[in-house]
Amino acid sequence: MKRLFFGLMAMMSVMGVTAQGIYDITVKDDLGRDVPMADYKGKVLLIVNTATRCGFTPQYDELEALYEKYHVDGLEILDFPCNQFGEQAPGTIEEIHQFCTANFNIQFPQFDKIDVNGAGESPLFTYLKARQGFRGFDLNDQTGKFMDEMLRKRDADYDKKSDIKWNFTKFLVSRDGRVVKRYEPTDKMADIDADINIELNPTLSTIMARRSVRKYLDKPVEHEKLEVIVRAGINAPSGMNRQPWIVRVVENPQLIADVTEVYKRYNPEQVKRDKDFKNMFRNAPNLICVCTPAEGGGELDAGLLGENMMLAAQSMGLGTVCLAGPVRFLNANADAKFFLDRLDIPEGYKLNYIIAIGYPDEYPDAKPRDASKVKYIN
Ligand SMILES: Cc1cc2nc3c(=O)[nH]c(=O)nc-3n(C[C@H](O)[C@H](O)[C@H](O)COP(=O)(O)O)c2cc1C
Repeated sequence: MKRLFFGLMAMMSVMGVTAQGIYDITVKDDLGRDVPMADYKGKVLLIVNTATRCGFTPQYDELEALYEKYHVDGLEILDFPCNQFGEQAPGTIEEIHQFCTANFNIQFPQFDKIDVNGAGESPLFTYLKARQGFRGFDLNDQTGKFMDEMLRKRDADYDKKSDIKWNFTKFLVSRDGRVVKRYEPTDKMADIDADINIELNPTLSTIMARRSVRKYLDKPVEHEKLEVIVRAGINAPSGMNRQPWIVRVVENPQLIADVTEVYKRYNPEQVKRDKDFKNMFRNAPNLICVCTPAEGGGELDAGLLGENMMLAAQSMGLGTVCLAGPVRFLNANADAKFFLDRLDIPEGYKLNYIIAIGYPDEYPDAKPRDASKVKYIN
């Protein structure tokens, strides 16, 4: 057993799986010196594989413009020349650097030439590709369509793989080391500009990073942190400052376990199907229960309170999920009444929704949003 464990560890180490995060990786600068990625902690990074003889090479102008616009606010552009696509980055790193400074006056750092795919690929790109795979070219874009056709001719399944497709693929990394997005060379620089803007702003970055989390570590949230989160919640606006809500924070694991036993009795099949099932609140160790007037009203104010709390939690490294399903079960099931009784909800209020909260044990991808629902009226 022990041997198997160490064997696995050795294998994982060879595969580079032991890297904890992007800041554990070391790269080489244009003079061959080691540069720990940890030097960039706290910066927003745009990491790009470049080439000097590519149709996309003029993107250097746009990259330099981004750099000049956002560097003072914390943006770093890390340029890794790579000769793997059409051999369009020939020459030494000195020659490449001379070319780029002479033609594009780039100010951002250029690193040593690397491979981004294959046996000798840079661990940095292994890491980036593993976190943000290929999501396709924009086929409504002429160049995107051209790239898709060209690559598909070479490999019909090219789009199933996460490898780098061409020069000027870019990865956006947040100030805390999350690989936020991957851009293909045909993606619009204006979209990258907007995303950089978001990542440079901690509030916007938190809003965009929030996901519903349904797997949690077995670790309760510290009471002091729950207090901070609730304080952020009740700071939300409410009509005429009426604050038409009641908040109950559940810190008692036994109460959650007891009501989950009731839930299991009524939903045995559902629980059996879910191999990660820990409790009926999407497995979170703590709950923030939000109540509104029983006769209706106050839902809008309560919703604002909830989003404030979820964003506060996100900014503190915690995960959350807003829950309505378990509330329906609790409100409908007489055997679960003891749970509602323990919440001590005043007369005239009802449990409206629950925010389940804890330390995340998963980092789901963003779910798509429908921007076509938005119209700007001029
Ligand atoms: C009012 C409301 C009720 C929800 N109820 C549940 C629920 O009962 N169970 C659940 O797993 N997720 C629930 N969710 C989470 C949504 O499924 C989730 O927000 C949505 O799929 C978007 O994903 P995201 O939060 O990761 O962006 C609820 C969200 C809201 C706003």
